[in-house]
Formats: sequence, structure tokens, C-alpha cells
Amino acid sequence: MKISRRRALYGLAAIPLASRLSLSVGWGQVAASTLANDPQRPQYHLLPAKNWMNDPNGPIYWKGKYHLFFQYNPNAAVWGDMHWNHAVSEDMVYWKHLPIALAPTPGGPDKDGCFTGSIVVEKGVPTMLYTGVNPEVQCYATSTDPMLGKWDKDPKPVIAAPPPGLNVGGFRDPCPWREGDTWYMGIGSGIKKKGGNVLLYKSADLKNWEYLHPLASGTWNGKITEDTVDSGEQWECPDFFPMGKKYVLLYSTERKVYWQSGELDKKEMVFHSEHQGLLDDGAYYAPKSFTDPRGNRILWGWLPETRPVEDYKRAGWAGMMSLPRVLTLGSDGQLEMKVASDVEKLRGAQSKSSDAKALTIENYCGEVLCSTKELKESARLSLTAEGQSGPFYSLGYDPANADAPFTVNGKPTEGKVAGNKLNIRLFFDGSAVEVFINDRIASTRRIYLPGEKAVAVKVNFEGDNPAPDMTVWQVKPISKDRLTT
Ligand code: FRU
Repeated sequence: MKISRRRALYGLAAIPLASRLSLSVGWGQVAASTLANDPQRPQYHLLPAKNWMNDPNGPIYWKGKYHLFFQYNPNAAVWGDMHWNHAVSEDMVYWKHLPIALAPTPGGPDKDGCFTGSIVVEKGVPTMLYTGVNPEVQCYATSTDPMLGKWDKDPKPVIAAPPPGLNVGGFRDPCPWREGDTWYMGIGSGIKKKGGNVLLYKSADLKNWEYLHPLASGTWNGKITEDTVDSGEQWECPDFFPMGKKYVLLYSTERKVYWQSGELDKKEMVFHSEHQGLLDDGAYYAPKSFTDPRGNRILWGWLPETRPVEDYKRAGWAGMMSLPRVLTLGSDGQLEMKVASDVEKLRGAQSKSSDAKALTIENYCGEVLCSTKELKESARLSLTAEGQSGPFYSLGYDPANADAPFTVNGKPTEGKVAGNKLNIRLFFDGSAVEVFINDRIASTRRIYLPGEKAVAVKVNFEGDNPAPDMTVWQVKPISKDRLTT
């Protein structure tokens, strides 16, 4: 990864690397009381008490607890100086923040940052594979600490360079998985002027890796950009796992997250995609999955800021974690996702309407379920949310627009639904709005309002159809303040 790119993107552009740390100290000084009362901070999405966060890292269920690590800058609310922060939970809903689990080692292969990675268990030992910078290399660490707070790093990278002869756009974010006795690992990469890919490696012990070939590849969008991610020449954060008889690949590029489902040819070890789509077309990036003790495939994702850098620097925090999404494949091979049922325990006061009457959520902190009966062709629907200063969110449905029947705030949202019944779930939280349509279309938005006392949610329904059933729940905050711990 080019440090310059991220510095430009997230607000460190004008600052030489050497003085970044000292400068960033000042930015990390927003008072805890200010953060705790900031109405734009979420009340039931996980985020650190202060400063910058991005990708989820190494999610794992270990010794009866859910562990979630994430990219974190301990000194500022802008990207930089990447560490792995750490939170633990009994239920993926309520969290306890733990000390930083992974920090750059001076003079080590991760001296300029501990980038994204995964945790798997080999012979009973939690083992971490992650990217160290600069240059991008793959690092190895193990833990015997039951709380996964302490990690013993190997002093040398386990993969010290990309395969020779490849003009790669980047080389990071390892995702290991096991087939029988063999470990495989995908690394997010790409070939300049060709396209992003996942480079596949093989190992018997997670330490000695042999390069095989690309597991999957994409195409360059033809643009010349400073950052290879923006041109599709670099795929970030691949995630690859079996689902029933099929396999699913997720990757992030051009600021979007894509999914593919298909067959893994286990002889050639090449993935053949059969279906693909956008996992979420909004403020959602770099997701990573793990298996919970019930065998569910759970996905965490990063909800980045969409406001100006100056605004979040001033606020003293940036980024939050999505709600946990349970992934499945439909019988037609399409990816489906549902917010984990554990989140329902946060449902508080409830109100209902089936005559299109507006319902109210207090403090921009609630859940909405809107479901229709079988729709006749003439159905058109719009769901709007309105705060003190007017409408701020709208979801539109128009079946006459066959290519893009759904819009969010007027912008077409990719994806179609099967059948002619709609089931829409919305989560409002501080400055995040996550929507799920028929468990297939997801579109996350960040919408910053000065401090809403009440949000009125209303469905307008046109055509010769009965009004949908709507239920609104007030969602109970996961902590007594907005520090989420
Ligand atoms: C994705 C990403 C990863 C990288 C990490 C650095 O958002 O760019 O590719 O490992 O963030 O923070």
C-alpha cells in the first residue's frame, strides 16, 4: 500500500510521515465527555472510545467469547500508525474494550503498521497472519493468552515479497483457510494494467508458504489513478470460505465490496465464479467473516465516514463497525444476509402501523421493519425518515424501473429481489442507516444530523395495494454513554 494514498485520502496528506505522530497527539485530545455525548456517535454499533478505526481484523470465537480486532490509530481520528485494537463480547451485541492487541515493532517487519489480517487455530493455538508494512509482507504471530490480548510475533515475515516477476499493485490482507490437512491462503493483490486478484498460497504449518497461482482475478477499469485500488488494479481484504457445496469470495476495490459464489476446483485449486454482485453499495468496506459456534457465517464490516476529514478530526473519532450479518446462499446462488438475531435483544418500546401512519424513533436510535403482502404490478413505495430539520432519508421502490427498482436518497441501488413481496429492515443509529431489502440488497449510509430528538418514519404507498405493515422499535443503547464499553 502506498502510505501517500491513505494519507491523502484520510487527511494526512500535507504532513511528513516523521512528524505525523507528534502532530496527531493534539488531534486525539477530544474530551471523553464530548465523545460520550456526541449525538452522531452510534449507540448500538461498536466503535472505539475515540480516534480512527477501519477494517475488522481476525474475528474469532475463542474459549466462549467473541473477539473482534480492528484497524486503529491510537493517536488521532485520521488514518495512520495502524494497530489492532481489540473488543470482546459474550453475544456480539454488548462489548468490552480491551487494550490494543498488536502494535508495530520498531525495526520489525511491521514497523510502519500492522495492517489487516486473520486469526485461525492450528493445533489448538490461535495463529494470526497479517500484513506488516513497509514494504507489504505477511507476518505471523501466535497467542497462548486465553483472552487473546498477548501475541508472540515471529521476528521475520513468513512471506517476505510478492511472487517474483509479477508487477503487483499491492500485496496484503491474508485470508487463510483449511482444506483437509492443508492450509491455503489468499492475499489481496493485482497486476498493474490487468486487474485485481487474490494470490493463492499453500502451507502445511501456516509458516512455510508456497505460491501457487491466482485464485481469482478481475479487470482493470482502464483509469490511471495514483492508487491502484481506485482503478481496480488492487483487490483488498479478500475473504474466501465454503458455504454448503459452494464457495464464496468477497473482496473490496474501487471503494465497493463485491461477492462471488461458485465452485472451487479442488484439483487445480482455482475458483470458478457462477454468480456475483455488490454486497453493499454504500458506506461499507473491507468486511471479514468467521464461523460462530452455531455454525453461522458471520460478517463484520467497516462503516467509514463520508463527511469531510476536518469534521471527523474535530469530532475526535472516525468509523464504526457494522452490525453482524449472517450470510447464506439462496438456492439461485445469490448471497443473502440477515442481521444476526442476537441484535433483537436490543429491541425496546415498539409501535405499529398498517395504515401508512408515521411512527417515531427517539434520538435517531431505532429499528424499522416494513413488510408488504403480495404486490400488484402497480405498487410504488417510498419510505421516508424525517428529523427536526426535514426529511433526511428516503428509500424508493418502483417496479416499472426494471433495471434499478430501488433507490436510496434518489440514487439507484444495485440489485433486484425475487418474488413480489417486500421485507425491508432499517437500522438507524446516530449517523448510520443500514437497510436490508428481502435479505438480498444492503445499502448503508452515513447521515449526519445535529442531534435528533425524534425521527418520524413514514411509508407512502401508491398503486392499488394495501399499505404495508410497519413496526418500529426503539433500540436500547449498548452502553450508558456513546463510548460503547
Ligand atoms: C482496507 C485497507 C487494507 C489494509 C488496511 C490498512 O481498508 O486498505 O487493504 O490492510 O486498510 O489500514
